[in-house]
Amino acid sequence: MKKEFLDLGVQPIANGFLPESNADKEYFFNLKVGFNSENYLVSLMDFVDLDMMFNDSYAYRASMSSTMRSHFKEASNNFKENFSPKDVLEIGSNDGVFIKNFSKENTVAVEPCGNFSKITNNLGYKTYNVFWDMNASNKIKSESGKKDLIFSANCMCHIPDIAGAFGAVANILSADGVFIFEDPSLSEMIKRVSYDQIYDEHAHIFSVLSLSELLGQAGLEIFKVDKLSVHGGSHRIYASHKSKFPVDKSVMDALRFEKEMGLDIMETYRTFARNVESSKERLVNILRSIKDSGKKIVSYGATSKSTTIFNYCKISTNLIDYIVDTTPEKQGKISPGMHIPIVSPDEGFDESVDFAFLGAWNFSDEIIKKEIDFCNRGGKFISHLDGLID
Ligand code: TYD
Repeated sequence: MKKEFLDLGVQPIANGFLPESNADKEYFFNLKVGFNSENYLVSLMDFVDLDMMFNDSYAYRASMSSTMRSHFKEASNNFKENFSPKDVLEIGSNDGVFIKNFSKENTVAVEPCGNFSKITNNLGYKTYNVFWDMNASNKIKSESGKKDLIFSANCMCHIPDIAGAFGAVANILSADGVFIFEDPSLSEMIKRVSYDQIYDEHAHIFSVLSLSELLGQAGLEIFKVDKLSVHGGSHRIYASHKSKFPVDKSVMDALRFEKEMGLDIMETYRTFARNVESSKERLVNILRSIKDSGKKIVSYGATSKSTTIFNYCKISTNLIDYIVDTTPEKQGKISPGMHIPIVSPDEGFDESVDFAFLGAWNFSDEIIKKEIDFCNRGGKFISHLDGLID
């Protein structure tokens, strides 16, 4: 049974960047997190309706950052080299940043956000504008057969009925096929106190321990685990039907590491909750003292993660003047819940900015490199993980 360990308060739809004219029409819910001691799964206590989050105005575009473009390019080269897949399925194809590296003839995709499924359909990749479940799996199987490679990035953790989603994968995975998926890692979140990984879309934050249980129930087996630096620390999980591939040492290593960390016991999560509370106090104190000294703070990257932070810590235009973000769909809008205006970096990241809170701290290397002029003139980045970054 799932038991609550953390309450992040009243929160809006994390990616629901909205026009100012809709400011009084937002949906809010209680963001609480629990741990299931039977299968070790960490999940939201209450799931938000999928249609509220993943619809035709979904704003997150994976191809907006060069880090993610090269990440998916490398991933596809790696999979082609190691598994030579003939038929490929991507679940949650976003704007096509991964599938663009595969042939149009043998690749299909599933993407519930209409704006994105349109983009990849127009590019020539058959894209089903549906949520991933057994119906989708059966339909695709009957139209184009089983798949040798099923890939999914930052999507499986979005699916409330995760047991059903893995069952639907097993249903369409060819006998020797591989199911590879990547999602933020629970151990990284616990270690860094990056509680901003928790928001409506992340129905679950996976440990390898929990995935081993859940995939096992679907008749699948993890044969390899890679650690990735993207999205603030992720795991790439390689799974197949049982006993198809030799199980790599990385699987036992990950399971042992997570047990040593205590990811299988409630006490670890209670400690995490106390660390989250301290993190909030520290961040608000830093921002308040900068603001009190008359300096200007903006936020860099209008992320879902920063929605959690701003709403949990009650950070609004009282502390952050505005947010800069390169995504055209977010510019001119306001942030969910706290209603901080969003502008393009060209417009807002100018000489008047003294401090920049890294809403997109997971891209700090890329951003700091790009904004070298800001650093050279004494500008400073701040993150809720590290405080002021030198
Ligand atoms: P991401 O951290 O992937 O978001 P989420 O928490 O929603 O999963 O999103 C990064 C955001 O930051 C995205 O809106 C694009 C923006 N961004 C910039 O504005 N400039 C940059 O240089 C980079 C790397 C990202």
